[in-house]
Amino acid sequence: MTRKRVAILISGRGSNMMALIEAAKAPDYPAEIALVVSNVPDAAGLAHARDAGIATELVEHKPFGNDREAFDRAVHAALATHRIDLVCLAGFLRILTPWFVSQWNGRLVNIHPSLLPAFKGLDTHARALAAGVKTHGATVHFVVPELDSGPVIAQEMVPVLPGDTPESLAARVLQAEHRIYPLALKRVVEGEA
Ligand code: GRF
Repeated sequence: MTRKRVAILISGRGSNMMALIEAAKAPDYPAEIALVVSNVPDAAGLAHARDAGIATELVEHKPFGNDREAFDRAVHAALATHRIDLVCLAGFLRILTPWFVSQWNGRLVNIHPSLLPAFKGLDTHARALAAGVKTHGATVHFVVPELDSGPVIAQEMVPVLPGDTPESLAARVLQAEHRIYPLALKRVVEGEA
């Protein structure tokens, strides 16, 4: 079995990244985490990736100013250097250009903390509570140029409980995220998504 070479793009904590790294340790997992890219130098996830023995690249966005595509080309170059087959966004707080998305069409996935198409964008947990939904959750989806809108690969529902705060709900959803991201990546690699 040739394992697909996966890169994870992060900007922060990296708990979904760690869930993918853990899952990929299983000998029968069809992908290896070959690279972690961060646009933020002090992202906690970057240190965790290094501790886990994963190759890392820092591509800061600041030097590129408003030239989003130039930043995306630098990320793309890092991915090419590491012979990456597939890219997972995991708390990567940059909107990618249509150019980058088309380069990785069908090989670029994201995790979002809501049951898409509900609650696209930021602050999903507070907005779910404000809307009074009884069921919330997490979604892994293919990335398309429109934000949080690509075909769904996996979802898990999470109950909203009485007394929930955005923080308590986020923590419950995060556990679901850590379950579905490895499953979704496996599906994509095995051509089932
Ligand atoms: C997760 O809730 C993810 O769904 C969202 O950003 C958060 C990242 O958390 N896109 P982590 O860095 O994976 O811990």
